Amino acid sequence: MQEFILEADVMRSIMKVVHQVAKYDVTVLITGESGTGKELLAKIIHLQSPRSENPFVPVNCGILSGLMFEDKLFGHEKGAFTGAIRREKGCFEIADKGTLFLDEVSEIPLENQTDFLRVLEDFRFVRIGGNQLIESDVRIISATNKNLKDRVKHGLFREDLFYRLHVVPLYIPPLRERKAVIPKMVDRFLNQLAANYKMPRPSVKPEVIDTFCRYDWPGNVRELKNLLERVFILNHDEVIDLEHLPSDFLWHFRAPSRTMALEEVRREGETKAILDVLYRVAGDKEQAAKILRISPRTLRYKLSRYDIKVNRRGELVSKGHPEEHL
Ligand SMILES: Nc1ncnc2c1ncn2[C@@H]1O[C@H](COP(=O)(O)OP(=O)(O)O)[C@@H](O)[C@H]1O
Ligand SMILES: [Mg+2]
Repeated sequence: MQEFILEADVMRSIMKVVHQVAKYDVTVLITGESGTGKELLAKIIHLQSPRSENPFVPVNCGILSGLMFEDKLFGHEKGAFTGAIRREKGCFEIADKGTLFLDEVSEIPLENQTDFLRVLEDFRFVRIGGNQLIESDVRIISATNKNLKDRVKHGLFREDLFYRLHVVPLYIPPLRERKAVIPKMVDRFLNQLAANYKMPRPSVKPEVIDTFCRYDWPGNVRELKNLLERVFILNHDEVIDLEHLPSDFLWHFRAPSRTMALEEVRREGETKAILDVLYRVAGDKEQAAKILRISPRTLRYKLSRYDIKVNRRGELVSKGHPEEHL
């Protein structure tokens, strides 16, 4: 089972609730920013429950609406609509005797919420185009990175559905509010990476951990895990030092400029925007120029004027970074 890494005090309160709720079929709503470990925690609850031998079925509610939502959850009969060439089970049926994980539950369209709530009340439904009433025995765990109460207030989420899902709330704080766990996470993730890739496990310079602790991690644990994987794969030194960190990450720590000369402010602002966009489009300068609403020629001019050098992945190249020249 994958471990859920937590610092001592938060661990005690979250894990206590997890142990208590795992035994029963009580509905759990996990909240927290993206990348804080909501899905992992849901899986852990499932694996600690009497349902652990049966399926854990995640559904992303954020990408489905109308008939697609119904189809995904309740399935359809052959011929129910164009393209329905055979009977297809929905997630409720697939998760029978197991756990249904409703990810991004705040995004269920209003038009689907009424029917959905009705099914959550008695776990009986019909497949699209069918008339046979099907019963499913599922445990519901849902997750959201939005404030559901707020969505209720703004009329975007049914209040009765909110109370149905919000039986036991579990909140996972963002990584920036529990930085004490970072050294432990780095340690465990590097162990995992070394084991997965069958490569030696590097040690980490204290300066690197300090730098990690000064960063705010908007992508939370997912961002930390991905950064470590990137560093691990691209460097095979025994020790991870500051110079091994990608320059687009180190960029966050640049000292603020000493003057407010507009020319410099503009240069800094434009450089940052250009680098952000280039990184997001993986170095595609045509596309970057479009997003920045300048001509490719102006972009080339600015890159040269501001002395910005990027590699093929659109990351800033700094001297002494062998990784950047790949
Ligand atoms: N506390 C944690 N301990 C270990 N791994 C974690 C932890 N929190 C998150 N992760 C890892 O970070 C990544 C993102 O977690 P995930 O559960 O998908 O987040 P969310 O659903 O909140 O976006 C996954 O690879 C997960 O295993
Ligand atoms: Mg998720």
